[in-house]
Amino acid sequence: MRLILLGAPGAGKGTQAQFICEKFAIPQISTGDMLRAAVKAGTELGIAAKKIMDAGGLVSDDIIIGLVKDRLTQPDCSKGYLFDGFPRTIPQAQAMKDAGVPIDYVLEIDVPFDAIIDRMSGRRVHPASGRTYHITFNPPKVEGKDDVTGEDLIQRDDDKEETVRKRLQVYNDQTRPLVDYYSTWAVQSNASDKVTAPAYRKVSGTGNVDDITASIFAVLK
Ligand code: AP5
Repeated sequence: MRLILLGAPGAGKGTQAQFICEKFAIPQISTGDMLRAAVKAGTELGIAAKKIMDAGGLVSDDIIIGLVKDRLTQPDCSKGYLFDGFPRTIPQAQAMKDAGVPIDYVLEIDVPFDAIIDRMSGRRVHPASGRTYHITFNPPKVEGKDDVTGEDLIQRDDDKEETVRKRLQVYNDQTRPLVDYYSTWAVQSNASDKVTAPAYRKVSGTGNVDDITASIFAVLK
């Protein structure tokens, strides 16, 4: 199983990625988590990325493409992978196509923007694992603590309302065009393509988390 999760910031990609990766025993490749790890480690990349992330912008395509290509050489990717938050621009998608990285499904999780602002203010994360909660809609068993490790949960720096609005605008301008890119790949494919067109699937991301997981599993047959 090799798939891309597509959706606006806060659509529930990280939340659903956990269930999909568990079911198919594949690694979650989240470029956001990779960048946050670099920020925490204080690397040169992390210092540069933090400024961009806190402003709600996108880190440069070259850096992101390099990170993902490196990650794909790890042995755990041999049985499949889930891309969460990648690709996010047409050049990122094109780089994967040109490199012959196979994808079986592109799964779009669709949530209206007005629902997203509420979700982000209540989000809490476990930085070490990337596990995601919501204080009301998907609370941890113990308030403020990760279910698996019991460690503290934190609020992300880029979850302030003003930054979320900027991220949604960036999504509209730079990432939404991927919906067309992937949903029309099959009809536009040609003999020079190194990989076959992925199947495009779309599910609603509003409602109960378990119901959304069930509808995702139903379309990933
Ligand atoms: P990234 O970490 O990828 O953030 P994002 O795509 O903006 O997505 P989020 O993680 O914010 O949301 P999500 O869809 O995973 O939602 P979640 O499951 O947490 O990127 C961060 C930054 O890094 C970017 O802004 C950019 O600067 C940089 N970056 C990353 N990748 C890049 C790339 N490829 N190129 C360039 N730059 C890149 O859910 C949200 C909340 O809602 C949670 O609290 C959750 O519990 C709750 N929730 C989930 N489902 C439901 C539901 N059904 N009902 C109610 N609440 C729900």
